[in-house]
Amino acid sequence: MTMMMKFYTFTFLIFLFSMLQGHCKSDINLGHSLTLTSPLEYAPGLMGKAYIMETESSSSTREPGFKAALTMGSSDKDDGKYLCSLQVFLGDVRVWSSGHYSKMYVSSKCIIELTKDGDLRLKSSNKHVGWRSGTSGQGVERLEIQSTGNLVLHDAKNLIKWQSFNFPTDVMLSGQRLDVATQLTSFPNDSTLFYSFEVLRDKIALFLNLNNLKYSYWEYKPRDRNKTVNFVRLGPKGLDLFDDNSHIIGRIEQPLSRFLALGNKTGNLGLYSYKPEKGKFEATFQAVSDTCDLPVSCKPYGICTFSKSCSCIKAVSNGDCSSNVEEAVSVKRLCDHEMVELEGVTTVLRNGTQVRNVRKERCEELCKKDCECAAASYSVSDESCVMYGIVMGVKQIERVSGLSYMVKVPKGVRLSGEKPNVKKWVVGLVGGIDGFVILLLLSGLVFYFIRKRQKSSSPRLPPQQPPNTDS
Ligand SMILES: *[C@@H]1O[C@H](CO)[C@@H](O)[C@H](O)[C@H]1NC(C)=O
Ligand SMILES: *[C@@H]1O[C@H](CO)[C@@H](O)[C@H](O)[C@H]1NC(C)=O
Ligand SMILES: *[C@@H]1O[C@H](CO)[C@@H](O)[C@H](O)[C@H]1NC(C)=O
Ligand SMILES: *[C@@H]1O[C@H](CO)[C@@H](O)[C@H](O)[C@H]1NC(C)=O
Repeated sequence: MTMMMKFYTFTFLIFLFSMLQGHCKSDINLGHSLTLTSPLEYAPGLMGKAYIMETESSSSTREPGFKAALTMGSSDKDDGKYLCSLQVFLGDVRVWSSGHYSKMYVSSKCIIELTKDGDLRLKSSNKHVGWRSGTSGQGVERLEIQSTGNLVLHDAKNLIKWQSFNFPTDVMLSGQRLDVATQLTSFPNDSTLFYSFEVLRDKIALFLNLNNLKYSYWEYKPRDRNKTVNFVRLGPKGLDLFDDNSHIIGRIEQPLSRFLALGNKTGNLGLYSYKPEKGKFEATFQAVSDTCDLPVSCKPYGICTFSKSCSCIKAVSNGDCSSNVEEAVSVKRLCDHEMVELEGVTTVLRNGTQVRNVRKERCEELCKKDCECAAASYSVSDESCVMYGIVMGVKQIERVSGLSYMVKVPKGVRLSGEKPNVKKWVVGLVGGIDGFVILLLLSGLVFYFIRKRQKSSSPRLPPQQPPNTDS
């Protein structure tokens, strides 16, 4: 009952602000400020939004337009604090947030202000500034939301002094470009792991990042290998790759995509378009189409099977396979261990540390001696040994001779059942949690937009430098 009251109070406040705002405009002038205030008593699970600007929605396609909002949501930690951020929404989907890399916590007030000297700020009080555009004294005249969803600060000559497109988060909008050496990132709940979608010279690729480990699990290369990528852009026909002369050198075809997003649960990359009949955005393309090809379809030391369930490499995890990523990497030094070969499995991780022209025995030995090596795969045909620091993305495959995957297990441990030195893993042990993960992945077509804050243990990137794009 009291919870309800609080909720209404908060919603009411926001409603009031929207009223004061009058009709939502698409720009804001110098000196403007807006304050969100929390209910008197801390309310867990609360999320408040005050829309400050919007673009017109297209009446022909019935697609929603963009809205910029000041948001205030209770933090996952339930420590009495709220997260304060400036966000851009396309319909219900959050497509940009000032708090993607560094979170701003406030206890009661979340204030946005475009100062008289042209700095856009988020504050918790008059003194404490938690986020800023860094554009003081650069002649900024107003804040605008463009029809593309780009949030920009203009000067009197209409030059752009700051724009949200320069600070990509986990979404790239149609018309936005992502240059080589930049990336989209997304942070799963409560994990030190994060995913990145990176534009590299020779390809675009998805990576799993874990402490100092980094492995790709999907990539797309231009057909002509001699061409190098300069930037990518989501155009009317799909995701285009451009070379240094702005010629298209590759394309992932998917017409009418409105945005590209890197999923924070699955790490999958999707192109989304609007389905008017359903009133929401849906992925019409996904980079990884088979669940088992995602690195997180099962927990570490799990095996994604043909039936799309998770089996467990029992010896390593004491039979429960419930270790999360943190535990799996915290057991870093695997020194006094031996290698066990698993039949009919492989890993979807690609670029482990490769050693060429070695025999399988040597490969086994290399990993065994290296305390940081957790698994290795060996291919007879090109005599290549690839070593990995973590056992993830393991999936069942048709048995291929000449291809093997080996994991480290503590000395003397046998994989359950069967004869000594069994080289078989046990199918059929599906943990409830893992089964659930798979369900989530399968329903991954729908874009989830209820964002939960990542824990503070998540990797932090350096603070954003205000760019000076005069264009
Ligand atoms: C995020 O993590 C918290 C705590 O670990 C958990 O309670 C919550 O259900 C998780 N949320 C999602 C969406 O996984
Ligand atoms: C790519 O470059 C190599 C050597 O530089 C050349 O032999 C080859 O013909 C080129 N391929 C194409 C398709 O241009
Ligand atoms: C995989 O490739 C990425 C990008 O080229 C690189 O940063 C990373 O270190 C590589 N991983 C390994 C284990 O070599
Ligand atoms: C994952 O992404 C969705 C969509 O942006 C967001 O609503 C959700 O809160 C995110 N979850 C986490 C744990 O960041």
